[in-house]
Amino acid sequence: MSDTNAKIRNFCIIAHIDHGKSTLADRFLELTGTISKRDMKKQVLDQMDIEQERGITIKLAPAKMEWKGYELNLIDTPGHVDFNYEVSRSLAAVEGALLLVDATQGVQAQTIGNLYLALEQNLEIIPVINKIDLPAARVEEVCQEIMGLIGCKKENIYLTSAKTGEGVEKILDAVIEKVPVPKIDTDKPLRALIFDSKYDDYKGVIAYVRIVDGNVKPGDKIFMIGTESDSEVLEVGCFKPQMLKQDSLETGSIGYIITGFKDIDKCRVGDTITLKEKKAEALPGYKEVKPMVFAGIFTKEGDDYNRLREGLLKLKLNDAALAFEPEQSLALGFGFRVGLLGLLHLEIVQERLKREYGLNLIVTVPSVAYKVFKTDGSEIIIKSPQELPEPNYIESIEEPWVRVDIVSPEEYIGNVMQLVQDKRGIYKNTEYLISEGKENKRAILHYDLPLSAILVDFYDKLKGITSGYASLNYEFIDYRPARVVRMDILVAQEPVEALSTIVYKDNAQYVGRKIVKSLKNTLPKQMFEVKLQAAIGGKIIASEKISALRKDVTAKLYGGDVTRKRKLLEKQKKGKRKMASMGKVDIPPEAFLAVLRR
Ligand code: GTP
Repeated sequence: MSDTNAKIRNFCIIAHIDHGKSTLADRFLELTGTISKRDMKKQVLDQMDIEQERGITIKLAPAKMEWKGYELNLIDTPGHVDFNYEVSRSLAAVEGALLLVDATQGVQAQTIGNLYLALEQNLEIIPVINKIDLPAARVEEVCQEIMGLIGCKKENIYLTSAKTGEGVEKILDAVIEKVPVPKIDTDKPLRALIFDSKYDDYKGVIAYVRIVDGNVKPGDKIFMIGTESDSEVLEVGCFKPQMLKQDSLETGSIGYIITGFKDIDKCRVGDTITLKEKKAEALPGYKEVKPMVFAGIFTKEGDDYNRLREGLLKLKLNDAALAFEPEQSLALGFGFRVGLLGLLHLEIVQERLKREYGLNLIVTVPSVAYKVFKTDGSEIIIKSPQELPEPNYIESIEEPWVRVDIVSPEEYIGNVMQLVQDKRGIYKNTEYLISEGKENKRAILHYDLPLSAILVDFYDKLKGITSGYASLNYEFIDYRPARVVRMDILVAQEPVEALSTIVYKDNAQYVGRKIVKSLKNTLPKQMFEVKLQAAIGGKIIASEKISALRKDVTAKLYGGDVTRKRKLLEKQKKGKRKMASMGKVDIPPEAFLAVLRR
């Protein structure tokens, strides 16, 4: 092992959302002089506009720092559940993790979720309590919670304020002292783990890598083990946190490789890069992520379709989890069915399309992917209700389930249980976070739930019934049988494709009634009477009527000639019947959304 390699430490920060990772990373960059105070803007590692505005981390951004003669490579990780995959990738690239806990919030659902991911990777965990400058800080209690969680001693928990800078130096010292030296074997052929990749208009595909064995330099012929494709390295370098060119990347370090690929599909996150002439074995941990949530994205202006397509293609270049295919809807025109990891993911994609491509979008209500076993023995995954085969071709249907961990103060447990049970949750068990005092006692509730149950408004409801105190983490477990059917909505006897939904058999009627009712309230009146119906396999299960808009054709008629009046009304009636028979009702997109967001 060479001396320089012994001076590398690779680490990341894991935490619940908003516990202060990005702010702490800023302090590190400042203290190590990686970025001068003058150039420092808040949360520099959050490079995207949306990240800056919302103060959340979406993409991880690595940084190389120098501290007391050591090279410290930091990867900032996203805190939200939808980006768990990104978290686990960055964890595989490091040896240690700072477990950051907000002193006013204590341990939360994603603190625990991320901690488990880190323990699975055998990372050295350094617990840190942040925001100790706040008057509401409960340092003592939070210490107890952390000790109960990871079984450490109190003196091994670091206290800091990422805002004032207090305690930050000690954390960097602890990284050097406690994070293991990367295992290094320079004689082995190159193995580099891709933990992220990005597309640059000029440079092509850039792979963010951890060099596990060997080294790499410009001109090397590289080979991607998973995608079996090869190329020639154009440039290598490190992150300061901007990309900085170097002569080579050595074992143990973190940096980037400009791969020469033009197609990001060749350079998948989790894949291993080796040399074409001297191939090594793949590193473990290559997992392709499959989208679990689908929604239709359409443009408000029809001629923006091509720009939407272009936008999605570009986004996909640095978002490996995004999937999409064209979709056509009678009401909304041409668009795309987009596959995502979760709701926040959808929101971010939507927001980026709006900002980066100036698109005005309509997004339909998201649904989950269903697995359909057909009577001919085949198995398909359906992404929209239209794809569901006729009932006589269906043997069975399965839907995705997730394991949910909810951290909640004890007094709200009853409310939480009620909510989860209403959503078909299956209770697993309850644990308590250890704390000395009787007050502020908090529980961790474990449930299994259908993913569809938490898709639409679960999180808002959870926050509502716990005065904002509960937090949520979930992970996909498996597909399980679901008794679901497709419900069609008919407007003026015509099925409206985009309004079809997949519903549980046992509450189809309830949902159907709700939909026709809200349609009744949102559709503009027509010149003729309009029937609104919900149907399952041709059978009407709910219906409403919108009465005709009645123009007073007799208004101009003065005096009391009853026969003339009747004649006019008869004529009007006839006209309406004719209209109704031709009867197309234009459904404005606003009405759609109102219904879909039921
Ligand atoms: P995500 O990336 O979204 O998971 O959030 P994060 O963990 O990166 O949190 P971030 O650094 O964005 O901090 C969240 C909020 O807490 C911001 O408003 C910070 O200014 C604030 N904050 C962070 N650290 C401290 C601290 O030590 N003291 C105080 N008072 N506020 C802090």
